[in-house]
Amino acid sequence: MNGMPILVTGATGAVGGALVRQLAAAGHDVRALTRDPSGPAARALPSTVEVVAGDFDDPKTLVPALRGVARMHLVAMGGAVGPAGAEIVALAEEAGVRRLTHLGHDDFSRDDDDPLETAHRSLRRTIEASSMEWTHLFPGEFATNTREWAAMIRASNEVRAPFPEWRSALVHEADIAAVARVALTEDGHAGRVYIPTGPVAVRRAEAVRQIGEAIGREVTFVELTPEQAREQWEAVYPAQIIDWFLEMGQNPDTNAWVSPDVETVTGRAARPYAEWARDHAADFR
Ligand SMILES: NC(=O)c1ccc[n+]([C@@H]2O[C@H](COP(=O)([O-])OP(=O)(O)OC[C@H]3O[C@@H](n4cnc5c(N)ncnc54)[C@H](OP(=O)(O)O)[C@@H]3O)[C@@H](O)[C@H]2O)c1
Repeated sequence: MNGMPILVTGATGAVGGALVRQLAAAGHDVRALTRDPSGPAARALPSTVEVVAGDFDDPKTLVPALRGVARMHLVAMGGAVGPAGAEIVALAEEAGVRRLTHLGHDDFSRDDDDPLETAHRSLRRTIEASSMEWTHLFPGEFATNTREWAAMIRASNEVRAPFPEWRSALVHEADIAAVARVALTEDGHAGRVYIPTGPVAVRRAEAVRQIGEAIGREVTFVELTPEQAREQWEAVYPAQIIDWFLEMGQNPDTNAWVSPDVETVTGRAARPYAEWARDHAADFR
């Protein structure tokens, strides 16, 4: 498989972008997939990376991107989480992909009537039934989710949100990418499900304080009631997701679990949230 490019899908995204950079820095040939090769996110990728066009919603467009590829990172987005998922996996197998990392998430609802969850489950099963050496990555909550506070912090040094005591082992995208990098480039990870998380659970109010520390300003957590939060989120999230957030918020420990997988797989301790806040301080200034 050495000497053949590694195809990274979702390459303009948080995890895919970090994976592209890590693989390129380690000297691998990387092919980065995006729907918009001339867009700013694609242009910001390292110059050694080959950028190719492709859209999961139209699987045939992936054929040129898959040519000569033996290893691939698949992000469960767009058409991959739907009827096109099976076609994408079949095209990858036909093209000669032998090893695949799959970034998605574990069933959180276990609800057979939830079409998105059913599609994630179906992609997972299709991958497991394939002839490829697959590794699932089902991380805990992404630290990047807290970017939703960036505009508020820039405007007012405040975060207006519910549940200051809610705890989550927020994971740095570079750690998820590092697990994928190892699974793609080293043997012994086929058939595994990894659950990258941060090293400790962080209270929402503490995460806000750590952003303040990273940007050198005091940032205040202004607690919203669940009803006020619903109003604020209505412009951004579908009702079903808001219901899910609010239900989770009733139990401060829903996402507090910590997995050892980042350190076990990469040999390096998972990055704390404070490091993520420092790495992304510019977003909050
Ligand atoms: N957020 C969380 O807390 C969390 C937790 C666990 C698991 N996850 C999983 O993480 C994944 C998201 O990862 P991420 O945060 O790295 O994503 P992201 O930053 O939102 O990036 C998503 C990428 O997907 C690509 N994409 C979207 N639709 C596409 C399509 N139709 N065809 C081809 N590419 C498409 C985009 O590329 P272009 O726009 O350049 O085409 C973009 O680079 C999801 O599968 C989610 O289930 C998230």
